[in-house]
Amino acid sequence: MAVEPILSLKNINKSYQIGGQKIEALKNVSIDIHPGDFISIVGKSGSGKSTLMHIIGLLDTPTSGQVILNGKDVSKYPEEHLAKVRNSEIGFVFQAFNLLSRATTLENVMLPLQYSNTPKKNWERKAMEMLKLVDLQERVNNKSNELSGGQRQRVAIARALVNDPSIILADEPTGNLDSKTGSEIIKKFIELNKLGKTIILVTHDNDLAKIADKVFVIKDGEFVK
Ligand SMILES: Nc1ncnc2c1ncn2[C@@H]1O[C@H](COP(=O)(O)OP(=O)(O)OP(=O)(O)O)[C@@H](O)[C@H]1O
Ligand SMILES: [Mg+2]
Repeated sequence: MAVEPILSLKNINKSYQIGGQKIEALKNVSIDIHPGDFISIVGKSGSGKSTLMHIIGLLDTPTSGQVILNGKDVSKYPEEHLAKVRNSEIGFVFQAFNLLSRATTLENVMLPLQYSNTPKKNWERKAMEMLKLVDLQERVNNKSNELSGGQRQRVAIARALVNDPSIILADEPTGNLDSKTGSEIIKKFIELNKLGKTIILVTHDNDLAKIADKVFVIKDGEFVK
């Protein structure tokens, strides 16, 4: 029996109306993502990557088309419900890390658990497990502004993993790192994928995109073959 996709986008369109001008940021985009996939979406500036990432990550809704997550059409969910699904199903890793700078490593990683059904008594243990996975057990009590860029991004990865999401979504995760630190972060994604995590990497960098098993090229809001 064929494995069902974790996430399917079906004929997604996203347009913006600015005064008299209509901008079609995404045109008829369809994709199936299966459990354990490591895919990348690559394209030039303005091609629609962030727009697509926001739709995949349930941060924005399409103008038309369907977003099917774990077999359910979530495209018409109200925001309150979407926020819940997002918190449990999707782990985000951003270019700018997006950590709370005055919170400690441990506090940053525990944050998504506060909006989950995990009992409070388990928060610290869960966060520590994730920090072990990214080799940061020695830095749990440091504030994030005391960490290096690579360490901050590893905190962000641990935070993205803590609710055991079905999908990890990374938008230019090495964009603010030097190339050596960047390749350490990429190694982490490869390891996580080997552990069975589904990973979607969004980047403008063709070489980086190639580390994925499948590369989708987006141009002017459309996938090109
Ligand atoms: N809120 C918005 N209102 C109007 N147009 C928008 C909006 N967001 C994006 N666009 C337009 O949609 C197109 C795709 O933008 P998007 O941010 O997805 O590109 P991108 O591939 O992420 O680019 P970059 O690599 O520069 O981040 C662009 O033409 C952009 O100007
Ligand atoms: Mg972008």
